[in-house]
Amino acid sequence: MADDTEISLSTVKSFLTGKPVDYLNFVELSKKLGLDWQDIAYKEPQTQPSKPQPTNGEASPFITGAPITQPRYFFGRDKELKRLFNLLKRHPLQNAAIIGKKRSGKTSLLHYLKNITTTPAEQLRPEQKSDWLPYPENYCWIFVDLQDARMQSREKLLKYILESLKMQVPTPCDLDRFMQVVSDNLHSPTVILLDEISVGLERCPELDDGFWECLRSLATNHTAGNLAFVLATPESPMEMAHNTGHSSPFFNIFGYTAYLGALTEKEARELIASSPIPFTNEDVEWILRKSCCWPLLLQILCRERLFNLEEGENDDNWREEGLRQMKPFTHLLDS
Ligand SMILES: Nc1ncnc2c1ncn2[C@@H]1O[C@H](COP(=O)(O)OP(=O)(O)OP(=O)(O)O)[C@@H](O)[C@H]1O
Ligand SMILES: [Mg+2]
Repeated sequence: MADDTEISLSTVKSFLTGKPVDYLNFVELSKKLGLDWQDIAYKEPQTQPSKPQPTNGEASPFITGAPITQPRYFFGRDKELKRLFNLLKRHPLQNAAIIGKKRSGKTSLLHYLKNITTTPAEQLRPEQKSDWLPYPENYCWIFVDLQDARMQSREKLLKYILESLKMQVPTPCDLDRFMQVVSDNLHSPTVILLDEISVGLERCPELDDGFWECLRSLATNHTAGNLAFVLATPESPMEMAHNTGHSSPFFNIFGYTAYLGALTEKEARELIASSPIPFTNEDVEWILRKSCCWPLLLQILCRERLFNLEEGENDDNWREEGLRQMKPFTHLLDS
């Protein structure tokens, strides 16, 4: 078959064993076998599947671009997780802010907080810690992405929060009625994760000072310490409020701030070691050096290295390609 199609033997082998091959090769080899490539191609799902993919080399474990939503693909941040869960595991629950540059891993960390304590062990990596909270099943987590247009209308956002809490939605769903329903019914620990909060402040006139003050008063006075906010932003919440012309009471309730930097070297090595085909020491050291342990850059370089190994190409061309792919994100490397 390799002779007939003039496609390399290693690519034909990869094709026949279900490993990724280039699109054009895939189409041509399918045609050769009289098959419609669309019928036999494995198409990457939009987000990571809730069931882990087999790690026998069929699916790449390296995710670049979309936030990590499945805990098994998330690495590191141990120090931040310890601090954050400490604020959330006792009464009163306390608020926290996560500050990090663009593409540093803020959204991934919010998803991880929400999911790690209730993900079944068989969907985690063997050594992954998940017992951060004494009674994780009592917690309600609400993820709010303020970039999502539906969250930018006050009424829709309030409805979404009530629905997530499984509470009755009043009509009309205005601030007063929302406050009433929540303060009457919220009796178990609840964490509202606010992502892209600066978008909320800059672009959503309906999310005005009155709205934020109401959230503050809910958390501090009306829910017996059961409600906390964790927000993610590229700059400090107080400054952000100031720069967008908001008064700051809501934004000064964030007692703890986690600054997201690079991973520690140990954490970065764990991410690299998750490759289904192990890398040589020399490759590992090169990836650590060039990425400075930033998770996105690690993922990009690992993806390139793995792709090259899977293609059976044993040269160093992947390094050049990796650096090229890293380029749009090298702002992470500026101190
Ligand atoms: N803890 C992590 N473990 C593994 N990969 C990570 C981790 N955190 C971030 N990444 C990588 O970084 C990429 C960007 O992560 P994420 O979208 O969470 O960043 P962000 O700070 O929310 O970005 P943006 O500023 O664009 O909203 C992910 O696609 C993933 O490749
Ligand atoms: Mg994000």
